[in-house]
Amino acid sequence: MRNPEKAARLTSAAVAPATPVSTLAEDVRAGLLSRPRWLPPKYFYDDCGSELFEAICETPEYYPSRTEAALLAAHGREIMEYARCDHMLELGSGSSRKTRHLLDACDALGQACSYWPFDVSAQMMLDAGAALVQDYPWLDVHALIGDYTGGLSNLPLPTTGRRLIVFLGGTLGNFEPGAARGMLEQIAALMRDDDLMLLGVDRVKDSVILEAAYDDAAGTTAAFNRNVLRVLNRELGGDFPVDSYRHRAVFDREHARIEMRLAARHAHRVTLAALDTAFDMAADEEIVTEFSHKFTPQSLDALLADAGLALDRHFEAPAGAYSLVLARRRA
Ligand code: SAH
Ligand code: AVI
Repeated sequence: MRNPEKAARLTSAAVAPATPVSTLAEDVRAGLLSRPRWLPPKYFYDDCGSELFEAICETPEYYPSRTEAALLAAHGREIMEYARCDHMLELGSGSSRKTRHLLDACDALGQACSYWPFDVSAQMMLDAGAALVQDYPWLDVHALIGDYTGGLSNLPLPTTGRRLIVFLGGTLGNFEPGAARGMLEQIAALMRDDDLMLLGVDRVKDSVILEAAYDDAAGTTAAFNRNVLRVLNRELGGDFPVDSYRHRAVFDREHARIEMRLAARHAHRVTLAALDTAFDMAADEEIVTEFSHKFTPQSLDALLADAGLALDRHFEAPAGAYSLVLARRRA
């Protein structure tokens, strides 16, 4: 039965980009039809891709999610007591699974705040929001549907009250360095003196551990990677032979990033009917589908400083496997 009170506590709004965002067709023309071939990672996250990402987080090899969850469970209370936020904005919130540690801390502290998840994957966010208002009777959820690469200045956030801006999962690592700095600058522009950003980033480590995290034995990450071709087949009338692509995950130490790629098992022609175009993939030719940058304490400090932010608190996982940081806007 629909509970009108509950429904009122979950609202949603589409957010128009503040700066132009390229369309799928434009991204495909710019990336897939050039050499080396590439695709932006946001296209992974249709309903199926969002579910596959959740499944990746359950694999034994993908340590970042459970490591970050453990940090949030251990330090959530300290973080929320320190932030004393009225409003929590979360970028790329997905299932909001780990955010529950912060909401549990609010519960324990008797400290309410409103929650503003912002994600391109609407269904996942709305399902998560419905579960959250059910589980936290004091919580209002304002789901913001949109693409954060279009900027943050159009978000309809309350203008009064303290803000905590949350960006978890290491998702900042999916941006190239210049774009990561731009994203942090956007975040800094939303912050006032008392506001905080809570950022989770994965750390540089042994390449065997990193590559296994992005190439799990059960093939869940491989399925997530190939899913982007299904998205293109559906959205652009494509005929990618999805199972004819091999998943690859390689750690590039020079750039401190995992590169996910799809390699054609054999030569074939791909047609994209909606773009009225076709192109040839050679045997073993690759499409770069994602970068996932890893940080050192020094590279993270430098990135924050470049964006006008300063590290305030640092919660580190054992062996420096993962970092959760609180940062402020620089004076
Ligand atoms: N924060 C969650 C989910 C991480 S997966 C966690 O830590 O588990 C990355 C999330 O970012 C997905 O939910 C995806 O839909 C979202 N996302 C990816 N690109 C985006 C974009 N350009 N704009 C908004 N959300 C995006
Ligand atoms: C969302 N993002 C931080 C994940 C990552 O680790 O870069 C996406 C992912 N790709 C493969 N596995 C997980």
